Amino acid sequence: MYTLINGNELSRTMRAEMAEEAAQFTESRGRQIGLAVILAGEDSASKVYVRNKIRACEQVGIRSFSYYLPEDVAEKDMEELVQSLVDNDEVDGILVQLPMPKHLDSEKILKLIPAEKDVDGFSVSNMGKLALKQDCLVACTPNGVMQMLKRNGIDPKGKCATVVGRSNIVGKPMAMLLLNADATVTVCHSKTPDLKEKCLGADILVAAIGKPKFITADMVKEGAVVIDVGMDRDENGKLCGDVDFENVKDKCSYITPVPGGVGPMTITMLMYNTIEAAKARTRSI
Ligand code: GUN
Repeated sequence: MYTLINGNELSRTMRAEMAEEAAQFTESRGRQIGLAVILAGEDSASKVYVRNKIRACEQVGIRSFSYYLPEDVAEKDMEELVQSLVDNDEVDGILVQLPMPKHLDSEKILKLIPAEKDVDGFSVSNMGKLALKQDCLVACTPNGVMQMLKRNGIDPKGKCATVVGRSNIVGKPMAMLLLNADATVTVCHSKTPDLKEKCLGADILVAAIGKPKFITADMVKEGAVVIDVGMDRDENGKLCGDVDFENVKDKCSYITPVPGGVGPMTITMLMYNTIEAAKARTRSI
């Protein structure tokens, strides 16, 4: 029998805990913790994510500063907006929703965000610190996965973990977090030979590929913990993950569903990072 790791439930619990922490901050500092969210363009998935981020701020008691810019926004205007948020003491975290419109140099724009306000954890400084196992803001999705493991009593120490996917947003930081937690980590990608064998060796298998139902039952070890980071559409247009859930679930000790698994945890960890950023900034002022 497998146990379902419920991301909605864990998110509710964590958001309630964080609401208390945010209220204490407001009380003691005389201002709310602040998160700025910038969305440029009309991408419909991005609009849903941004709306959910702002709703999460309301739940937790974080003040949101939201900016909706046209698809053809001038790079200079975007840079000036980000810079004004960097300089604004009421803003503890800055998030520019990705992907940005193609004409913008996203690397250049993200570089304007200082590490202490980089609540996405994407900056060179935060990624480097993560690699060195130093205190830093950690990318929300992989950090959410670590919370799901921890709060279900799953310790990666001494386990074999396979991460399928090597993106800067999920795969790489996920691999570093698992390594920092003393797992033996294999990272797989589109050029990996014998992918099936590498997955079969995993006590903890993280799928972050972006292909519907890519991980099939013959790739999963009996008793494995399977974490599905995918947000895909199946052949009927229905939301599904990177894991063939129906066929894989009975081999697992633990598995995350899609929807209701990792997805809600990403936004919950954004709230977590914003609170961490606010606390760290007030310590340094
Ligand atoms: N687009 C998809 N996922 C993310 C994320 O975690 N952060 C940002 N800024 N954009 C995204």
